[in-house]
Amino acid sequence: MSALSRVTGGRLRFGGDYNPEQWPRSVWAEDVRLMRRAGVNMVTVGVFSWASLEPRPGARDFGWLDHVLELLHSGGIDVCLATPTASPPPWMGVRHPETLPRDENGLTVWYGSRQQFCASSPVYREYARRITEDLAQRYGSHPALRLWHVNNEYCTFCWCDETARHFRRWLRERYGSLEALNTAWGTAFWSQRYDGWEEIIPPRRAQYLRNPSQLLDFQRFTSDALLECFTGERDILAAHTPDIPVTTNFMPLWRGQDGWRWAAEEDVVSVDIYPDPRAGWESPDGPAHGALVQDLTRSQAGGPWMLMEQAAGPVNWRGVNHPKPPGLNRLWSLQAVARGADAVCYFQWRQSRQGSEKFHSGMVPHAGERSRTFQEVCGLGADLARIGPEVAGTGVTAQVALLHDWHSWWAGDQPGRPSSELDYTRVLTSWYQALWEENLLTDLAHPEHDLSRYPLVVLPHLYLLSDTALDSLTAYVRGGGTLVCGYFTGVADGDDRVREGGMDARLRDLLGIAVLHEWWPLHPEDGLTLDDGTPAGLWSEELDTVPGNAVTVLARYADGELAGRPAVLRNRFGAGTAWYLSTQPGHGALRRLLADAAATAGVAPVLPGLPDGVEAVRRGDLLFLLNHRRSPVTVPLPLPGTDLLTGTRHTEEVRLDRHGVAVLRS
Ligand code: GLA
Repeated sequence: MSALSRVTGGRLRFGGDYNPEQWPRSVWAEDVRLMRRAGVNMVTVGVFSWASLEPRPGARDFGWLDHVLELLHSGGIDVCLATPTASPPPWMGVRHPETLPRDENGLTVWYGSRQQFCASSPVYREYARRITEDLAQRYGSHPALRLWHVNNEYCTFCWCDETARHFRRWLRERYGSLEALNTAWGTAFWSQRYDGWEEIIPPRRAQYLRNPSQLLDFQRFTSDALLECFTGERDILAAHTPDIPVTTNFMPLWRGQDGWRWAAEEDVVSVDIYPDPRAGWESPDGPAHGALVQDLTRSQAGGPWMLMEQAAGPVNWRGVNHPKPPGLNRLWSLQAVARGADAVCYFQWRQSRQGSEKFHSGMVPHAGERSRTFQEVCGLGADLARIGPEVAGTGVTAQVALLHDWHSWWAGDQPGRPSSELDYTRVLTSWYQALWEENLLTDLAHPEHDLSRYPLVVLPHLYLLSDTALDSLTAYVRGGGTLVCGYFTGVADGDDRVREGGMDARLRDLLGIAVLHEWWPLHPEDGLTLDDGTPAGLWSEELDTVPGNAVTVLARYADGELAGRPAVLRNRFGAGTAWYLSTQPGHGALRRLLADAAATAGVAPVLPGLPDGVEAVRRGDLLFLLNHRRSPVTVPLPLPGTDLLTGTRHTEEVRLDRHGVAVLRS
């Protein structure tokens, strides 16, 4: 039995963050009544409760939480209990100012908001250890407890002196000697050579560009330092309750944590999904962004996962914050389920009336029980209860792997590169979106993973590739795989040292490139055309192909400085094929190219000929059809099926309302 199935018990979990400490007790019983009405079956309690549980150093006030857990339990609502360590009480900052983070300029990041802790502070860690220990002791055998939720969205950085000491310890372990560190960081440049460990500091504010390998290592270190905080609490909880799984919630496609490494330390992988701040509800990119995060989380989990937070209505941290139009909350929730979620939860249960998030929606908004939002929440609760037993625990099988690596992201998006326009997530997202629009089910994978089970591997842009990754990619294609690889890839090694020739020789061989003369990034306003009429932009490369007939030039640059030179290549290598795109094709062209590569690799879309804006996902033996359009649509069916949401049997086609969903069993 997987850890997550111990949490779900074979149904889909539905609920949200529940913060009763913000409300008088008279509201608590009402909360449980409304939760039951909505079909809520689990809530997350205590995420930001530290000051309520430990009002002064060492004191404990568990009475209110005892009462809340009893109320929930007697109402049949299970509990995901959080450690409150994301928001230390003000007394900690006053008594132990060294627990407060310092920014790059050495300025204190004060209490008065949340997440004001230095991950390296032994004092913070000790207080976190004690409160975690006491929570585990007190509630470990509570019958409502199903899951532990550690901290919340680990995301802090700190540049203080304690962090400096911790960073040095981490570096000693990584490099062993100062000489190895000096070599890895290339400190011969600009007279940066270190003569003693104590000279090394976190990359604080400096006069001009800072050492890129130091920045990269500091990012790696920060991810690891936060991970130590997580595993520290996890181990305490696991010692008390070996059968209760532990999670911590990720942010969607968040830069700060090495998500592959973190997920491996969790019993259950969970994520919070809010629309990309660059694209709102109204954006046509919204559903693809959600799908990307969902596929990434499923891939991190290696199976079903939890949607720990989303918003039932508006958020309050974009410029203009719209509510979700009718049906969108249901549509996006069922999209998450289609892509492997076994839980649909929200921030938060009841919308706050005070505090920084009083204009952030809740499942129960200010307008209360009669509001459209709450009515829709109830409808969704009923839908999830209906399909839950058929869906929970089942898998999604993708035949395409999209490669993603945090270290490459960290190394590649620093200043001092050929182009500040090249944005890691934009490239990843645009390639993912093309796959999504072609209805090709996709996993995300680390370049060092075993890729042999995927007929098609897509690598949009990975500036840094380790030797292991290069060997694994080469072995994959040699063994018969199909790789589509994008520009400015394989440029640097694990220390962010540029590979000889500007691209690793193994990769050049694989792609059929003889010489990579120069990178030619483009200004946003400078488009290019290829000789097959394809518009392109962002980036181009001056390269020569290997002589002979293994490599085919599929398109050449038709204008600009590189006119006549190869732009898109396809190379036969071993038993497989590698495509190389030295530029970013226009969206339609990228879609066609990936669809061609998929077809030649024998990968079929979930349903052929789907109308644009309709998503089809197979989970287990169910087919989810999701209409992201603002108008109804009719989808032809390859096989008759019964919609589990309505009980209706459809033979030849299904009509989906605006934002409508069908979950078909054939
Ligand atoms: C995050 C946090 C929540 C809340 C929401 C608001 O996901 O975990 O506590 O602040 O954002 O969107």
